[in-house]
Amino acid sequence: MYTHEEIAPGIFQFRFFDAARGIGFNQYLIAAEQPALVSTGGMPTFEALWEALGAVLAPERLRYLVVPHFEADEGGALAAFLARCGGARPVCAAVAARQITGFGLCPDPLVVKDGERLDLGDDALRFVMVPWEMHLWEGLVACEERYGVLFSSDLFGQRLDPTGAMPSDLLAAAAPMTLGSVPAQDLRYQVYGKLANLGIRRVAPGHGFAFTPPVGMDELFTRVEAAPMTS
Ligand SMILES: [Fe+2]
Ligand SMILES: [Fe+2]
Repeated sequence: MYTHEEIAPGIFQFRFFDAARGIGFNQYLIAAEQPALVSTGGMPTFEALWEALGAVLAPERLRYLVVPHFEADEGGALAAFLARCGGARPVCAAVAARQITGFGLCPDPLVVKDGERLDLGDDALRFVMVPWEMHLWEGLVACEERYGVLFSSDLFGQRLDPTGAMPSDLLAAAAPMTLGSVPAQDLRYQVYGKLANLGIRRVAPGHGFAFTPPVGMDELFTRVEAAPMTS
């Protein structure tokens, strides 16, 4: 069962809690002139997500399907969306594009590079490369321009039930998944450096709660790095 919440004007978090695995999965709809979905979820939840999206806009209108990295929760339902959304195109980094074409999911995904911008009409996304594909090759996160929402995928995610109460120390809860998804500290610092000056005001991860770091992104980075390395 999906629920959804508007986390910034015109930006919606769709969330599904997988009780068997004890983890929540989020996808994000940017209901801009050119609507974009960040992460598709997997095939088992596709029909439920499709129905839930319909509460905000006709999902056939989706124009962009952003795949942060090639993993089932990020892009598993890509082919199903493409089959129903005639004007939609996957958006991904070069490594994921090779998987998407190689697995026969789409012949021509839109490949974006570090720092590139995607115009959505009345909004836009800016992409930052993150080393979390296989072999630590580059995947991406996307920063939305109007409200400073970072769609951070597995960075700053929490293995929590997003239908429950937000924990008092969310920054600590965001550490294990971040440390696990980019296990090398020097690579994490490179990512933090690229995120530092993007005007991020809200963090919207692929798991757990969307949140506003109370002091700022620097505090979030510091708290994540101060956490013990567990997963
Ligand atoms: Fe992932
Ligand atoms: Fe994920």
